[in-house]
Amino acid sequence: TPRTPLIAGNWKMHLDHLQAIALVQKLAWSLKDARHDYRQTEVAVFPPFTDLRSVQTLLAADKLSLELGAQDVSPHESGAYTGDVSAAMLAKLEVTYTLVGHSERRQGHGESDDVVGRKALAAHRAGMVPMICVGETAEDLEEHGAAAIPLAQLGAAIAELPADADFVVAYEPVWAIGSGQAATPEQAEQVARALREQLRDLRDDARAAATRILYGGSVSSQNVAGFLRQPNVDGALVGGASLQADEFSRIVQFE
Ligand code: G3H
Repeated sequence: TPRTPLIAGNWKMHLDHLQAIALVQKLAWSLKDARHDYRQTEVAVFPPFTDLRSVQTLLAADKLSLELGAQDVSPHESGAYTGDVSAAMLAKLEVTYTLVGHSERRQGHGESDDVVGRKALAAHRAGMVPMICVGETAEDLEEHGAAAIPLAQLGAAIAELPADADFVVAYEPVWAIGSGQAATPEQAEQVARALREQLRDLRDDARAAATRILYGGSVSSQNVAGFLRQPNVDGALVGGASLQADEFSRIVQFE
């Protein structure tokens, strides 16, 4: 595949800024000893907002080959939006990626497809790359099969993005998140292939071929390689297992 694999660690609401610094230092230490070609894999961490400045300073000082991501972004540019963090603020902190539409935000914070699309656009306009999260619940799976909901969510999320906008797709079946019950590599591949086909329809062959589609949901060092072997799965969005430096480092060095 011409696509650079991407391993992303979503810390969710874990670690204060001091714990964040400690984790990144351990991770850097552990990756320095890694087999050399892990650098052909892109690695990104998604700390809570309060940790971003500390982690950014550390990454800049140590020239670590880690990218920074945010877990969310405001759909608004600036103004009276108490509690929101703007895309421009994140971009200024050298944040490369931002998650949009994580299932925990769709479910817990009522984020609609429309809001997810506006967040993706805000991220793009600020020069960041939105990582669009899609996935079906267990009920969706029973009712509609695996791909229907993710396809609809992706279509809505990129509807307002310019045709040449870069984005990443993270397919995370909701039933696999934090459950220890990962999808099988074949299940992940099936939906990833359908998502890529849809990108061909909604964009063009080149964009579909260039866009990275990640799998997320109970990824660990034990199962990561199986997902990455699939032709349409280009990486992983890792939750719980990204909080331990050794485990995340093993995931990054998947083979
Ligand atoms: O964003 C990450 C996903 O929600 C996966 O979380 O690896 O803890 O299942 P998990």
